[in-house]
Amino acid sequence: MSVEMRRPAQPATEGREEPTPQGAVPMWLFILLFVALFWGMNYFDRHGAWFNGRVYAPYRSLAELQMHQPPTGGINLERGRAVYESVCALCHGVDGKGKPGQAPPLAGAEWVLGPVNRLVRIPLAGLTGPIEVNGQQWNLAMPAMGAALSDEDLAAVLSYMRTSWGNKGTEVTAEQVGAVRKEIGNRTQPFTAAELLTVQ
Ligand code: HEC
Repeated sequence: MSVEMRRPAQPATEGREEPTPQGAVPMWLFILLFVALFWGMNYFDRHGAWFNGRVYAPYRSLAELQMHQPPTGGINLERGRAVYESVCALCHGVDGKGKPGQAPPLAGAEWVLGPVNRLVRIPLAGLTGPIEVNGQQWNLAMPAMGAALSDEDLAAVLSYMRTSWGNKGTEVTAEQVGAVRKEIGNRTQPFTAAELLTVQ
């Protein structure tokens, strides 16, 4: 049942036809239509089985995508490399081979691949005095860097060191770093190799 709307009579213009009166579509029908469309799009977006904002072609599901991720348990090795290259490489070299008279090697080093609790202490509070690395004697000093690096950054850089240059160690978590940081408190005195060997 359409309601007819008639325009008030207008003065006739030359060459222009009188507009035909049209059946008006009720406004609520428009609104209902838009609400239905909006709801429908949302419904499709949420319930369309194969849609996931985190999955892009050529992957079809989150599970498939995760298969291609490195098994790092949240450790960001790229971040580790960045921290290593900007902080540690200055002395230890980009290739982890160390520099004569400056710093011993990290590649193949038992200090790097050994107990995590021992390794974490070295960058946190520094290291000084005689130390044997890969069968070679060193006697220098490394400054503490614990105040400048977060638990996450230290975990990333130590994980990077333990899995680079042929090293095949396990990764270090931010929780492990945090636990050691708590254990040694505000220690500012660098460790010695002899002291570190008592830590398991
Ligand atoms: C200013 C130079 C310098 C920087 C920067 C530096 N180190 Fe060292 N590092 C040394 C020196 C020197 C030694 C040996 C200390 C000694 O003779 O007692 C050492 C020793 C070590 C050792 C034990 C010995 C070995 O080679 O395995 C580890 C592990 C280590 N550093 C890790 C790091 C990490 C991680 C960083 C960066 C967060 C870092 N170092 C940054 C100079 C440095």
